[in-house]
Amino acid sequence: MAIRRRPSDSAVEATHLVLPPDTNTHGTAFGGRILQWMDIAAGIAANRHCGGPVVTAAVDDLHFARPIRMGDVVIVRASVNHTGHSSMEVGVRVEREEANTRHREHCLSGYFIFVAVDDNRNPATVPPVTPATADEKRRFKNAIRRRERRLAQRSA
Ligand SMILES: CC(C)(COP(=O)(O)OP(=O)(O)OC[C@H]1O[C@@H](n2cnc3c(N)ncnc32)[C@H](O)[C@@H]1OP(=O)(O)O)[C@@H](O)C(=O)NCCC(=O)NCCS
Repeated sequence: MAIRRRPSDSAVEATHLVLPPDTNTHGTAFGGRILQWMDIAAGIAANRHCGGPVVTAAVDDLHFARPIRMGDVVIVRASVNHTGHSSMEVGVRVEREEANTRHREHCLSGYFIFVAVDDNRNPATVPPVTPATADEKRRFKNAIRRRERRLAQRSA
């Protein structure tokens, strides 16, 4: 019997401290650094899910809702929302935490599409993800709509 792979089996939570090299000239976190942390967390989740090498194929629109400041703790959570034949949609949520109070705020979320590749860097089949919790099922359902939209955009 095939092993069921739930989103929680491959989920990633990474914690970073925003240091001076991570900031821009306004003293807030450099957007590219946050994207890097998101891409890494999402890539680890995708790799854990399929058990092989993956590449980033696409990133959906990202909007920075709140600034992240130097000295903030940044929590990046990533989990596989949905799987296609060779692609995986990984949802990533970023929160800032004030170091002293531990007060947390949501700063941005995004969807990263990873594709599993073989030794020749051609797309490789991935095992299906099986959502288990109510949140995972909601994310799975919403990811199907986004996949259809992306496929329509690509073929247009
Ligand atoms: C990603 C890549 C392997 C896809 O190869 P391809 O020959 O275009 O593959 P296909 O058209 O057969 O698509 C394969 C899967 O990727 C998905 N995909 C490819 N490009 C996509 C995009 N821009 N957005 C969303 N999904 C995409 C397809 O929907 C398909 O999904 P499915 O198998 O689950 O149905 C190839 O484009 C590539 O190597 N790109 C460069 C990746 C890279 O260098 N990333 C940065 C560093 S990791």
